[in-house]
Amino acid sequence: MRIDVVSIFPDYLAPLRLSLLGRAQEDGLLDLAVHDLRDFTFDRHRTVDDTPYGGGAGMVMKAEPWALALEQVLVAQGAVAGNAGHDAGPVAARRPVLIVPSPAGAVFTQAMAYELAEEPTLAFACGRYEGIDERVLEWAEQRFEVRPVSLGDYVLNGGEVAVMAMVEAIGRLLPGVVGNPESLVEESHADGLLEYPVYTKPSSWRGHDVPEVLLSGNHGKIASWRLEQQLRRTAARRPELLDGADAAPFGKAERAV
Ligand code: ADE
Repeated sequence: MRIDVVSIFPDYLAPLRLSLLGRAQEDGLLDLAVHDLRDFTFDRHRTVDDTPYGGGAGMVMKAEPWALALEQVLVAQGAVAGNAGHDAGPVAARRPVLIVPSPAGAVFTQAMAYELAEEPTLAFACGRYEGIDERVLEWAEQRFEVRPVSLGDYVLNGGEVAVMAMVEAIGRLLPGVVGNPESLVEESHADGLLEYPVYTKPSSWRGHDVPEVLLSGNHGKIASWRLEQQLRRTAARRPELLDGADAAPFGKAERAV
């Protein structure tokens, strides 16, 4: 998968070169490029913001640097021919996905991570200040499938932290990135439920014992116990998830705890 991120703080994204995703890039499973929005300005101060029309607090990100940066992303992703210049024509059969992190977007979920992991390319536009001039999104709609996405119902200072979270959640689903794909099957949200508690040696620690059933060697019993723990945990911590959970082979009635 090819991922392009545009930001005024490219260094913010540096941790994506570490650990599992760093290895995925070394192994050629993920091709991640981070672009500095200020490289698409031409004044001495590399200005990317200006005061809002209509007044109000804060600054708004200017349109032209975004258009130039996103045109470069389209070329890098092979979605337009050659040197894009202004308004180069599309060559891709499908518009590439452009994710715009925003507290006003649809909430990011594991289901969305799975869906986005199927895309050959993704682009992310990290807004700062009071946001990006709305005309950029109108312009981008003709070139990208634009998806405003929120990390959750709270406000961050910009899109970078949200992009780190989304790229990690998506990147680890790419084939070959996680060494043991089994671990993706049993984790939280894979089946719509929170994951069961886990334990390791020693079996008794500071007066706290590992549940007996996990030492029994009875895999059927262990599987039932784990499902029950998932249901209890989900009911206690995230009851709203139980309505949408797909805890096959148990029906909803059997899942009531
Ligand atoms: N930018 C600011 N707040 C955000 C949020 N909650 N999710 C995604 N991007 C954001």
